[in-house]
Amino acid sequence: MIDSTAPPIAALRQQLAQAIVGQAALLDRLVIALLTGGHLLVEGLPGLAKTTAVKALADAVHAGFQRIQFTPDLLPGDLTGADVYLPATGEMRFVPGPLFHDIVLADEINRAPAKVQSALLEAMQERQVTVGGVTRALPPLFLVMATQNPLEQSGTYPLPEAQLDRFLLHVALDYPKADEELRILDMDLQRHADGHPALARQALAMDAAAVLQARHAVRRIHLAPILRHYIVELVRATRDPGAHVPRLAGMVEAGGSPRAVLALAHAAQALAYLRGRDFVLPDDIIELAPDVLRHRIVLALEADLQGLTRDALIAALLRAIPAP
Ligand SMILES: Nc1ncnc2c1ncn2[C@@H]1O[C@H](COP(=O)(O)OP(=O)(O)OP(=O)(O)O)[C@@H](O)[C@H]1O
Ligand SMILES: [Mg+2]
Repeated sequence: MIDSTAPPIAALRQQLAQAIVGQAALLDRLVIALLTGGHLLVEGLPGLAKTTAVKALADAVHAGFQRIQFTPDLLPGDLTGADVYLPATGEMRFVPGPLFHDIVLADEINRAPAKVQSALLEAMQERQVTVGGVTRALPPLFLVMATQNPLEQSGTYPLPEAQLDRFLLHVALDYPKADEELRILDMDLQRHADGHPALARQALAMDAAAVLQARHAVRRIHLAPILRHYIVELVRATRDPGAHVPRLAGMVEAGGSPRAVLALAHAAQALAYLRGRDFVLPDDIIELAPDVLRHRIVLALEADLQGLTRDALIAALLRAIPAP
C-alpha cells in the first residue's frame, strides 16, 4: 500500500516497485530522469520490462504518454509533426507529432535512420521543435525514454556517438535474479486470477505540477564544494585516464564534456532527494558515475584490441580517484 503521508516522490517510487519486480536501478533512474528533466537511454535484451517500466512511470505521474516505435521507414516529420494543407479553408495548419507529449517512449531507437534519430536528439536538447520555420516549445515535463536492444545489430543504425551526450543517463539492464523471476510469474498469474490481465491503472501518485515543484527542490539540494571538485575530476579523468591509471593512457578518443559534469551533479542531487536527504553524499556520485559517463566515452582502437570496456575504464577511474 502507498503510505499517503509519504512525500510524493517516495510514493511514486513505491508505486513503480509494485508494477515492476526488482530492476531497482532502472526504477531509481526513471525517477531521477523525471526529477531532473533529463532523458534516459535504456539498453537491454527483449523482455526485461523496459516498456512496462516506462509505462508505469507515465501512469504514476498521470502525464501525457506516447510510445513511438522506431522503424527503418520512419521520417523526421513523423516525430515532429508537419504543416498540413486544409482544402476547405485553403490554409496550412500544424499537426503536432508524437514528440508533443510529456513522456515519450522512443522504442528501439536504433532501428530508424540517422536523420530521424537526429530529429529526436535535437528536440531532446532544445526542448522545442522547428517545422516550416516556426519553433514550438515542447511540454514543460518533456522527457524521452529511449530503448535500444544490444542484440539486434543487423539492419539497425547505431546512434550517433557525438549526440549520445544528450542523454542524462544510460542504463544497462540485466536479467532478474531467480527469485525475482518467480515473483514476476506469480504476479502475472495473480493478475489473471483476479480478472485484471492488464496492468491496472494505478492510483495517481503525482501530478505534473508536483513533478515541476520537485524539480525545483532537487536543484536546491546542497552539493558541497569538495564534491563539485570530485565530479569535475572524475569527468576530466575520462578524457585523460592515463593521468590517473598509467595503463589506461591512450585508451580514450573522447571523454565526458562539461555537459557530463552538469549531468553527474544534477543526477546526484536527484538521487539524494529520492533518498530523502537535502545534501549529496560521495556515494550518490559514485553510484551514478557509470550511468552518466558510459555513453559519453569513445574508446580508442587500442582499447578494443585489449578488450577494455567503458565500464572497466570507469571502474578503474573510480578506484584511482579518492572520494572526498
Ligand atoms: N521485472 C519485471 N517485473 C514485472 N514484470 C516483468 C519484469 N520483467 C519482465 N516483465 C514482464 O515481461 C513482459 C515483457 O516486458 P516488456 O514488454 O516491458 O519488455 P521489453 O524490455 O520492453 O521488451 P522488448 O525489448 O521486446 O520491447 C511483460 O509482460 C512484463 O510485465
Ligand atoms: Mg518494449
